[in-house]
Amino acid sequence: MGLQHLAVIMDGNGRWAKKHHLPRLAGHRAGAESLDRTMHWCKEAGISYLTVYAFSTENWKRSKGEVAGLMKLLSHFIKAKEKELIKNGIAFRVIGRREDLSPKLQKEIAALEEKTKGGDFTLVVALSYGGRDEIVRAAAKLAAKGLLGSNRVGLGSDRVDEEAFASCLDTAGIPDPDLIIRTSGELRLSNFLLWQAAYAEFYFTDVLWPDFDKAEFDKAIASFSKRERRMGGRL
Ligand code: IPE
Ligand code: IPE
Ligand code: MG
Repeated sequence: MGLQHLAVIMDGNGRWAKKHHLPRLAGHRAGAESLDRTMHWCKEAGISYLTVYAFSTENWKRSKGEVAGLMKLLSHFIKAKEKELIKNGIAFRVIGRREDLSPKLQKEIAALEEKTKGGDFTLVVALSYGGRDEIVRAAAKLAAKGLLGSNRVGLGSDRVDEEAFASCLDTAGIPDPDLIIRTSGELRLSNFLLWQAAYAEFYFTDVLWPDFDKAEFDKAIASFSKRERRMGGRL
């Protein structure tokens, strides 16, 4: 089965900065450049979706300065990349609690999503994103539509099934990730794509995100291509 959707937990920016005796924010800036490079490798490799974990619902716990710096970096990324995304047919999409972001950033995101609609490659950025939060919001959406009454649970033609549930997630319309990469040696999901990762393959590397290079990208892809994805069935 091919690699249509790659997701990345871009971790290790802070440790990279420390290693280079730089402020944490310099690590995040280097991480943004790494994202830029990875996006192009994905396009060249024929991948259709790249989802990146940029800011979790838990990352609000960080210092005010770091949070503000990350938000500024995002706003800068959006402005700086607009032309390049349009030129290269890259659609931009955000998943997560966008209402937590500043009204200005929300507007910039909505504008870029609108301008890049219909691209044949999609960059999905998880922002103020938590898998549990996304699932709870999906359930609330179904409930608001009156679709979560006891008459809808269980069997029957009008029941809420997995497809109906998934269509209420932020990732509606996006196929599940085939491969999830996490950098910096941490072996956990940290609340990323909990629903969508049901049958994802995983690739963990000790490389810090700003150091993630083409050789490491190729290693991850090669590892994925050797996996036997049985999806619960028999090959
Ligand atoms: C990942 O790098 C980026 C974000 C979470 C925003 P970290 O900032 O978590 O880097 P480490 O884990 O401290 O090295
Ligand atoms: C996960 O990294 C979130 C992002 C990469 C944006 P964290 O650094 O926040 O995760 P933990 O705290 O190590 O689990
Ligand atoms: Mg981290």
